Amino acid sequence: MYIETARLLIRKLTVADAKELHRALGDPLVMQHIETPYDLEATKAFIKQHGMGENPRVYALIEKESNSVMGHVVFHAIDYPEIYELGWIIGQKYWRKGYAYEASKALLDYGFRNLRLHKIVAETNDYIKALNLMKKLGMTLEGTRRKHSKGVADWCDLYWCGILKEEYISF
Ligand SMILES: CC(C)(COP(=O)(O)OP(=O)(O)OC[C@H]1O[C@@H](n2cnc3c(N)ncnc32)[C@H](O)[C@@H]1OP(=O)(O)O)[C@@H](O)C(=O)NCCC(=O)NCCS
Repeated sequence: MYIETARLLIRKLTVADAKELHRALGDPLVMQHIETPYDLEATKAFIKQHGMGENPRVYALIEKESNSVMGHVVFHAIDYPEIYELGWIIGQKYWRKGYAYEASKALLDYGFRNLRLHKIVAETNDYIKALNLMKKLGMTLEGTRRKHSKGVADWCDLYWCGILKEEYISF
């Protein structure tokens, strides 16, 4: 998958991206709602395991202006080939510039129009940033798993959102 938007590129990761990606994955604030921050070796292993090969689960998110790897997007089948999960981990420096929204709009479009997906879902325990992003994308909050996620702190609720093809087309 290779997608270009006005300000972004979404492309396959390579091990050469590790140092830049680590700025996001190694940052405790960025990883606050995900898991313990990665060291550089864990970032390389993550790229090899999830970002490379025939069917990657995650892709590099590049800011075109600076040609920097800001982080990654998650985009892969879950439960059925026609249902994909969407996710994001973006370095702090790039927050609140509309990048996650811009990348997601392109991925929803690609998913529903090119891959002919039935549904795209996302989950988070961050009820402020990520849940608001999901709602802005037209996703519906379908359920809350109570105290089902640990992040790096105490147990917290996990929010599950989704958007159907027919909802997207009319959104
Ligand atoms: C969640 C995350 C991906 C948002 O990325 P971003 O590029 O800053 O988001 P955008 O600038 O595209 O914002 C899109 C919408 O998200 C919501 N949002 C993002 N940051 C927010 C904040 N600090 N407070 C409230 N809403 C916020 C808003 O609805 C925003 O729309 P608006 O600007 O019109 O209000 C980013 O904060 C991140 O990488 N967090 C760490 C990793 C993580 O927890 N990922 C989520 C689980 S997969």
